[in-house]
Amino acid sequence: MKILVAGGAGYIGSHTCVALLEAGYEVVCADNLSNSSKDAISRVEKITNKSLPFYRVNLCDESATEKVFMEHSFDCVIHFAGLKAVPESVAMPVAYYNNNLNSTLNLCKMMKKYGVKRFIFSSSATVYKNGNEMPLVETMDLGCTNPYGWTKFMCEQILRDVCAAEKDWSVVLLRYFNPVGAHESGIIGEDPNGIPNNLMPRIVQALDGRLKNFTVTGDDYDTPDGTGVRDYIHVLDLVDGHVKAVDYAAKNTGCEAFNLGTGRGFSVLELINTFERVNGVKVPYSIAARRPGDIATCYADSSKAAKALGFKAEKTLEDMCRDTWRFSNGK
Ligand code: WQD
Repeated sequence: MKILVAGGAGYIGSHTCVALLEAGYEVVCADNLSNSSKDAISRVEKITNKSLPFYRVNLCDESATEKVFMEHSFDCVIHFAGLKAVPESVAMPVAYYNNNLNSTLNLCKMMKKYGVKRFIFSSSATVYKNGNEMPLVETMDLGCTNPYGWTKFMCEQILRDVCAAEKDWSVVLLRYFNPVGAHESGIIGEDPNGIPNNLMPRIVQALDGRLKNFTVTGDDYDTPDGTGVRDYIHVLDLVDGHVKAVDYAAKNTGCEAFNLGTGRGFSVLELINTFERVNGVKVPYSIAARRPGDIATCYADSSKAAKALGFKAEKTLEDMCRDTWRFSNGK
């Protein structure tokens, strides 16, 4: 089977390329390198000792996207390629709607034209409406508070409608919780261009000096220690969910959403303390006000993925912190 990984030079995409190549799939990567570097391609090839054909392409460019489909006969598409920073989406909504929706629409157009019928979509827990009780279940209310989340919500709806029209398509919507960590080799990991928004890369940048002022955003939430609680999932567990989703898509039709999380929440301070303990470092931080739009607690019920995909997150918070630091030190 040959799989197109759109956004395959990125954090989760590159780890997925490794897992798919090691599972025996042929993989082609398309990426515009807006939040990644071509270096990721050679690093994936180094880990797997396999070839990863790469196309530098803006998936909003229909003809450039079609060129990839003209040169390969794909069995499945996995779509990671999207803008994903919540605060940036609030400042630049048009860029987010244009990029995240048109890249998805173009991939669907090319899949239809070239007879590709399986699509794995990188969705997010952000699609769940604030106010749902925890743990989050796939049948709960959806609704977003920022343009980034709405783009994921709208792409899910586009794909549900495509599946309703194309009865022989299979679409898997994977709702990520908080992916962190890195490949155990230390060769690939989370390496965003510029200053990231997410907690783990900001901890790393606080330690390596790129970030002068790292703050814990809010310690007055209704949580055990007052700081935000999230369902951190090791990127390798998340990627295992994708490999299982490819197998599921090959055996089923229709459109299904699955939570990919551990089912357990950890607070910001618990993560910082774990990071310090396993890596023997001291994270310099201060306490600041809450981030607008942040919620106190968010974690998954992933029993649907466990039942249908055979998915189970195995790695610990210690693994996530240790693997993150190993990659950051080896870059
Ligand atoms: C986690 C916790 C912060 C930064 C986001 C997106 C979501 C998904 C995952 C893509 C919160 C706290 C953070 C910092 C802090 N992305 N924090 N200091 O907000 O749960 O989810 O990333 O799909 O769509 O919304 O993740 O890592 O930004 O925050 O204290 O400098 O860390 O308040 O409690 P979040 P996060």
